[in-house]
Amino acid sequence: MLFSTAHILPALFLAQSAFAATADEWRGRSIYQLLTDRFATTNNSSSPCDTTSRKYCGGTWKGITAHLDYIQAMGFDAVWISPIVENLEGETAYGEAYHGYWTKNINKINTNFGTEDDLNELSAALHTRGMFLMVDVVVNHLVTVPDNSSKNGQDPTFDYSEITPFSTANDYHPFCLIQNYDNQTDVEQCWIGDKVLPLSDLDTEDPEIVTTMNEWIAGLVKKYKIDGVRIDTVKHVRKDFWPDFAKSAGVFTIGEILDDKTSYLKGYTEVIDSVLDYPTWFPLKTGFTSPQGNLSAITEIVVEAQKTYKNGMFMTGSFLENHDQERFQAATQDQALVKNAMTWPFINDGVPILYYGQEQGYTGGNDPNNREALWPTGFDTSKPLVDHVKTLNAARKAAVAANDKFLTTSMSFIGQSDSAVLAVSKPPLLGLLTNAGNKSTGSTKWTIPGSAGLFKAGESVVNVFECKSINADDKGGITVQANGGMPQLMMPASMLGKAGGLCPSITAGFTTDSSAGKFDQTTWTTALIAGVLSALSMGLL
Ligand SMILES: *[C@@H]1O[C@H](CO)[C@@H](O)[C@H](O)[C@H]1NC(C)=O
Ligand SMILES: *[C@@H]1O[C@H](CO)[C@@H](O)[C@H](O)[C@H]1NC(C)=O
Ligand SMILES: *[C@@H]1O[C@H](CO)[C@@H](O)[C@H](O)[C@H]1NC(C)=O
Ligand SMILES: *[C@@H]1O[C@H](CO)[C@@H](O)[C@H](O)[C@H]1NC(C)=O
Ligand SMILES: *[C@@H]1O[C@H](CO)[C@@H](O)[C@H](O)[C@H]1NC(C)=O
Ligand SMILES: *[C@@H]1O[C@H](CO)[C@@H](O)[C@H](O)[C@H]1NC(C)=O
Repeated sequence: MLFSTAHILPALFLAQSAFAATADEWRGRSIYQLLTDRFATTNNSSSPCDTTSRKYCGGTWKGITAHLDYIQAMGFDAVWISPIVENLEGETAYGEAYHGYWTKNINKINTNFGTEDDLNELSAALHTRGMFLMVDVVVNHLVTVPDNSSKNGQDPTFDYSEITPFSTANDYHPFCLIQNYDNQTDVEQCWIGDKVLPLSDLDTEDPEIVTTMNEWIAGLVKKYKIDGVRIDTVKHVRKDFWPDFAKSAGVFTIGEILDDKTSYLKGYTEVIDSVLDYPTWFPLKTGFTSPQGNLSAITEIVVEAQKTYKNGMFMTGSFLENHDQERFQAATQDQALVKNAMTWPFINDGVPILYYGQEQGYTGGNDPNNREALWPTGFDTSKPLVDHVKTLNAARKAAVAANDKFLTTSMSFIGQSDSAVLAVSKPPLLGLLTNAGNKSTGSTKWTIPGSAGLFKAGESVVNVFECKSINADDKGGITVQANGGMPQLMMPASMLGKAGGLCPSITAGFTTDSSAGKFDQTTWTTALIAGVLSALSMGLL
């Protein structure tokens, strides 16, 4: 056990007020994404939840409120919940709307999840803890079940009067399913879904509809004191719809744009605060699924994103799992690979997001199997991956505390000769990742030259996953041997910070809670420039 039971969070984070948080206030956060229906029930009943039947399983906002200790103790200071508005009721060809993405009435809430008071209680409970509330919203479409005319090969028709407030056909784009995802007009004007359950594509060019949606988001954020908004299916709405919507929200906006190209996401980083980092997710997933994975594909995408996006990689939502993709452990259960891949979101420039259940080792495949109920685990905090997540959050917080430029300094890769390793420098953190796997022995290692400027000569450097330290050489460099394919997360012992809960065996000797050392960013920058200049003079660059 790496943690003392108390002092899991630095006091700094408990004192912050929370409401109408800006992108900058989200920069240092860590997000726990959950599906409201699948996280916790109100009465703690542990009824089974059959994911394949795609029905409501009974999770509620009250359930979340009662289990905030579980989330906060892992070090998260923000929670992303499912969409909150009223959804279509009853059975469809694809089950019930337990996920919340099938809006029927934007002016009412989804009573399956509780009452308005319950939601306000959740919001208040988060804020009391200094945590942020992120709510998922959908603008692109609403949903009403079509008649079954499509079964006869015809286009389906809809009873729009079931939808509020957009209750006529004129409120929607004419029916057409997207045929060609490379044709942006098609992507924006046609409908997602399929003939069995097409999702009614809102006419987001209509000025009245635009006004209605802008007023709606402003009201929603105010009413429930929402701190950030995650926006669904952003690429299916014209780009110039978004700036006014984001401004009306008045809080941090992060959008889902499912695409693997940074060039495609670039435009969206200019109209909302941030994007979910899908381009890195693709190579992250394949890179760490097996020792054959290609890690340089990750490097390539990150360097591109840093150059391309409006804010570089800062504030992008960095994730390994979400509700739309099979869980990582559906692809491999090699715990060395799992721990390496899980480490990535916490050591780069983005905001880490962990999808609920990953910490419990869930292995569900594609939707709907990746939407397991969490309660059957009894919110077990003794699982190895719970410990791993705690360490990751604590290390990130310790890094923020030790370097006040941590959140505004871009990460960089330190070149390695072994293609099975990555060395990620974000001082004072050094993330050492490998996809060699749990069967690897011997040869995998990372070499960090003193010119990287991370450590002082002879300084004690700790791998916070194991609380083992080594000493830097007389130039401040280190060479680290991999152990069973596990990742290592290194930082100077002096910067662990007693209050952060990391490696109490090492920090026990610290005299005060705030005795953590500070990272000298100026010296580091100077050293890096000197390193580049000397490499240039030697013809290495
Ligand atoms: C818990 O709540 C559910 C849903 O409201 C209900 O069906 C069940 O009977 C309750 N169980 C207990 C033990 O109260
Ligand atoms: C459910 O469990 C949580 C966490 O243990 C506890 O705080 C809460 O009081 C319980 N709720 C009920 C209704 O028993
Ligand atoms: C829809 O299906 C039902 C039951 O199969 C059938 O009775 C009805 O005629 C169908 N309606 C249309 C419009 O195809
Ligand atoms: C793109 O999609 C639109 C809308 O579906 C269609 O009218 C147009 O012909 C398509 N353009 C190309 C080049 O395929
Ligand atoms: C790995 O990815 C990089 C960047 O996309 C690519 O240039 C390289 O060819 C790939 N290597 C292998 C072995 O596929
Ligand atoms: C490595 O991971 C595989 C896949 O989960 C597992 O079957 C095997 O037992 C693990 N081996 C070791 C040495 O941990």
